[in-house]
Amino acid sequence: MRDLQVVLTPADSLMGQLSSRTRPEGQKEISRLSLATTTLVVCSMSIKLSSGREIPVEMHKARMVQRISLIPVEERLRAITQAGYNTFLLKTEDIFLDMLTDSGVNAMSDNQFAGMMRTDDAYAGSMTFYEFAKAVEDVLGYKYVMNVHQGRAAEHLLTKVFAKSGDVIPTNYHFTTTKAHIELIGATCLEIYYDDALQTTSTNPFKGNMDPEKLRSTIKKYGREKVAFVRMEATTNLIGGQPFSMQNLRQIREICNQHDILLVLDGSLVCENAYLIRQREREYENKTVAEIAREICAIPDIYYMSGRKNTSVRGGMIATNNKALFDKVRPWLPVYEGFYTYGGMSMREIGAMAVGVREMVDPAVAGSSVEQIKYFVGRLVETGIPVVTPPGGLACHLDAMKFLPHVPQSQYPAGALSAALYLASGTRSMERGTVSMDRDREGKELIADVELTRIALPRRVYTVSHIEYAVDRINWLYKHRNTVKGLRFVYEPPVLRFFDGRLEPIGDWGRELCEAFKREIGDY
Ligand code: F0G
Repeated sequence: MRDLQVVLTPADSLMGQLSSRTRPEGQKEISRLSLATTTLVVCSMSIKLSSGREIPVEMHKARMVQRISLIPVEERLRAITQAGYNTFLLKTEDIFLDMLTDSGVNAMSDNQFAGMMRTDDAYAGSMTFYEFAKAVEDVLGYKYVMNVHQGRAAEHLLTKVFAKSGDVIPTNYHFTTTKAHIELIGATCLEIYYDDALQTTSTNPFKGNMDPEKLRSTIKKYGREKVAFVRMEATTNLIGGQPFSMQNLRQIREICNQHDILLVLDGSLVCENAYLIRQREREYENKTVAEIAREICAIPDIYYMSGRKNTSVRGGMIATNNKALFDKVRPWLPVYEGFYTYGGMSMREIGAMAVGVREMVDPAVAGSSVEQIKYFVGRLVETGIPVVTPPGGLACHLDAMKFLPHVPQSQYPAGALSAALYLASGTRSMERGTVSMDRDREGKELIADVELTRIALPRRVYTVSHIEYAVDRINWLYKHRNTVKGLRFVYEPPVLRFFDGRLEPIGDWGRELCEAFKREIGDY
């Protein structure tokens, strides 16, 4: 059994951390039920069958479910047409597998729901906030923390406070909302990656690394005073959820120290990055995900995250150990988000987040999507489907330029493939290519580095049978790839156009694909 980790879970490890003053009657009961006393637990999500095949195994059981349904292909054609061939604009009643994102749609744990129910609702000074702050300090090691309503709110505050017009912000790769906030204040986002980061097929375990030499020359070129901060993203979302190594993060820290530049970490997927470091960076194979995540967090000056991913709630945070930096951001919190002890989040979400922060470093949580993605990617590689390798920490990414080589980037192959995948399977994926790039300041279209159709795996939501179904339909689609043609915009919003833009197929390929499906497979 490869990668099987057996650990001792200390009794009451989660609930024991909570302040006795706020612990309501009966909470011990929850603690005993779910965490037992010292227990021997298998934490790995990946188990080798006697046939030799390795499969992801869910280290949880479903005790509340949501009914989903698969509508006939003819209905799917109606739905995607109404949605302007943009999967963001579909209604969930028309979706079978919602693999658009892992953001805000993960399954929460029983303890998180319990955390929500015993929330201390108060405009100011809520004890739930202090429980959350304690969890952040215990798990990530930060003394100062503030909530924000989600990750992009942190980006808004950090760019507002630490960057100005004309500045540059080097990053291992941009994220859509990050770049939008940087550009809205008149600064520029620079991507400093190794050359092979954009190669969709690779054996490089750390395609999320920043190239230290290129960072040095960038600082030299623009001058230290123009560099507002350096941003590292834990698993580069837009190029396949690829992790950075600890060694690389340390190198980047060293360069920032030499030039007295702030290092900011976007830790929205810090636990997946830690999980992958444990699997791929030799000196970390005997460390726990919790230890690795904490070691990562000790490196940057400022940490922020979308809590919608790792902590499985709807919120976000900014954290640091530097009081002076914290005090620069803090006055703006009530202006844009909310009072210091809720920062735009509901107290219930903060209650769930306090538990989520403790649970996110559990390998059964940190590895839940990583192991499913590895399996999903492996199954597609077996039949020669072009997919991003090595598998990363966010999704299974189809390489749309290789899948649809006849569709030029000006006709949005990743968007077309995403719409086609919905037609063929009722699975909602997300375009991560040229549609996700906004036009430049002159209004010229920017062509993306890669054209990816991202099939995200929300944590603890879908099972191997769902993945097998998607694999089968992707294979069917691949056989019919020549039927799929490009798209063109019929409505294009001025910023973050991928959210609300409407497109139409070039030719009637949606209808043709639907007819082929009916002929060969039937309605479903
Ligand atoms: N940073 C990263 C790396 C992200 O992946 C996201 C969101 C954000 C910041 C913004 O956080 O949504 O809470 O405001 N990613 C989502 C996704 C939207 O689907 O990948 P947010």
